[in-house]
Amino acid sequence: DKANYRHFMAKEIHEQPEVVGHTLARYLDMASERIALPMKLPFDFKDVQHLSITACGTANYAGYVAKYWFEQFARLPVEIDIASEFRYREAPLRSGDLAIFISQSGETADTLAALRYAKEQGLHTLSVVNVPTSTIARESEVVMPTLAGPEIGVASTKAFTCQLTALAALAIAAGRARGTLTDADEAKLVHGLIELPRLMAAALTHEPQIERLARDISKAQDVLYLGRGTSYPLALEGALKLKEISYIHAEGYAAGELKHGPIALIDEKMPVVVIAPYDRVFEKTVSNMQEVAARGGRIILMTDAKGAEEATVDSMVTIMMPDMPAAFTPMVYAIPVQLLAYHTAVVMGTDVDQPRNLAKSVTVE
Ligand code: F6R
Repeated sequence: DKANYRHFMAKEIHEQPEVVGHTLARYLDMASERIALPMKLPFDFKDVQHLSITACGTANYAGYVAKYWFEQFARLPVEIDIASEFRYREAPLRSGDLAIFISQSGETADTLAALRYAKEQGLHTLSVVNVPTSTIARESEVVMPTLAGPEIGVASTKAFTCQLTALAALAIAAGRARGTLTDADEAKLVHGLIELPRLMAAALTHEPQIERLARDISKAQDVLYLGRGTSYPLALEGALKLKEISYIHAEGYAAGELKHGPIALIDEKMPVVVIAPYDRVFEKTVSNMQEVAARGGRIILMTDAKGAEEATVDSMVTIMMPDMPAAFTPMVYAIPVQLLAYHTAVVMGTDVDQPRNLAKSVTVE
């Protein structure tokens, strides 16, 4: 049931503060502000030397964000893979290491095959899935359910932010187990997670502005998304979301890669969405924005108050996100990214919940 929304996708975007709250409640103890995983892990994170994360599409981008967290919080080397590549490329794997699989449906054929492959190689397997009765959930050694509830829109939205939430909790738990996070670090990070539902709700209030912006974007032929750090996989996700539901060609790039090719595309007709919370790499992203502006590119900047103050570039639309700690910006910035794709698709008149050629669950390879 779509409640009062025109599409399931709109409903699912708006449900995010609530369902992320449910996922948080599953993996942390709100009162003590500590991670409290409800399941026992059949391995010790101290013994894990290498982590592989494997998934497809949007779930893969959630894993890509999590790579930054595991590396930062737990000092654990991570390889992020697309399931269809992982399963065939004969990567050297070490028995006893951990492989994480992420899937909304839990039925994606390539992800399932990758999971079976990792098991055969003697790896521990943990899956982050939204459908707890799914094949991937059943076949994994450990399951972390995301509590997003049924996701009907083909384009994944709330499953993505719930995947990020579960993975963030796991990365903090890994940091604790490996002694790379102090109690104080953990408390600070957990506090940041607890704030997410409120911050995501604040992000949703920008919908009217994004709706107006979507009319502009709908006239574009191509859109470029740029970000650094955890905003880089979010740029990939932004481009995927836009192309799959509005059919406008889009590409996501690490902002630092701009001058290694894609800058050749930039002209007055090209909107460039820059995802840049005010963080450690912000200044670097600003210089990339200046390169875009100097070539007449139209910049849509998603940032916070401090970022907006520091980054005055011509011909720019700013979508102002709430101030927040740097670690978990992807969950909050996902909202304007999703809304922009959604409203652009509505303007284009496409079938938002059932985009052409796509299926909700890809059970063939
Ligand atoms: C994009 C999208 C797909 C899925 C991918 C994996 O909006 O929905 O890219 O993320 O097909 O599906 P699951 O998560 O079910 O394995």
